[in-house]
Amino acid sequence: GGAALAKDMHKDIVNVSHRGASAYAPEHTIASYDMGEKMHGDYIEIDLQMTKDGHLIAMHDVTLDRTTNGTGSVKDYTLNEIKQLDAGSWFNEKYPYASKAEYEGLKVPTLEEVFKKFGKNNSYYIETKSPDVYPGMEKELLRLIDEYKINKEKLLVQSFSPQSLKVMNELDPSIKLVQLISYKANAEITDAEIKEIRQYAMGIGPNHTYLNEEYVQRVVTSGLELHPYTVNDKERMKQLINWGVTGMFTNHPDLLHDVKKGR
Ligand code: G3P
Ligand code: CA
Repeated sequence: GGAALAKDMHKDIVNVSHRGASAYAPEHTIASYDMGEKMHGDYIEIDLQMTKDGHLIAMHDVTLDRTTNGTGSVKDYTLNEIKQLDAGSWFNEKYPYASKAEYEGLKVPTLEEVFKKFGKNNSYYIETKSPDVYPGMEKELLRLIDEYKINKEKLLVQSFSPQSLKVMNELDPSIKLVQLISYKANAEITDAEIKEIRQYAMGIGPNHTYLNEEYVQRVVTSGLELHPYTVNDKERMKQLINWGVTGMFTNHPDLLHDVKKGR
């Protein structure tokens, strides 16, 4: 019946641990990614920046200021310099109720370290951030994917930059891509826009705030996956699932897991 069908659909909803389980641990640390797995996240979401000496690291911002005790642009520091920084204490200060002594002194991980730790058969959802600041980052990403024999069936690469996704697509057409979009008001998309995105991507990742059911239906019936970001409360998760999204990014993968279990 309808209820059983709805339940089965819930099971398939892709649970993306946004920057890891970043409500509970400092974003983009191994601790955060670990917790994402423990909380039943299907994918580890990783934002990429690149160091002065060309290493891809897991970090959201182009600057070190917010998530480490350093200052200035990532691109102006070598990996060795960035490895001296504390990427955990800021979290304890900002979120005392979630703080843990073990977060003090956590290091910024490289993408290479993440691949080594979580393995080739894990599911990674990797974002090329600020590709204009880091020419060649797509090539380096692909080099690491191949060096660590990452299972491409389980890999998704995402970007706000269509240009960056098209570069990835040209370098390796077998890599599955998701076009991120940030709407500033009521989300609308035309059939022509969907057709254009479908030429290189298998999905769209919009901010969830301005979505509506018609938008969701239009995108998913076109055959594209739809993974809104960043959804942190259960009522909104349920609403988006009822509208037809195929997954979502969340700082609380445990809550999405509950929703999928009907709790
Ligand atoms: O990648 C999905 C979402 O994370 C995009 O926004 O700024 O959190 O990377 P941001
Ligand atoms: Ca992201």
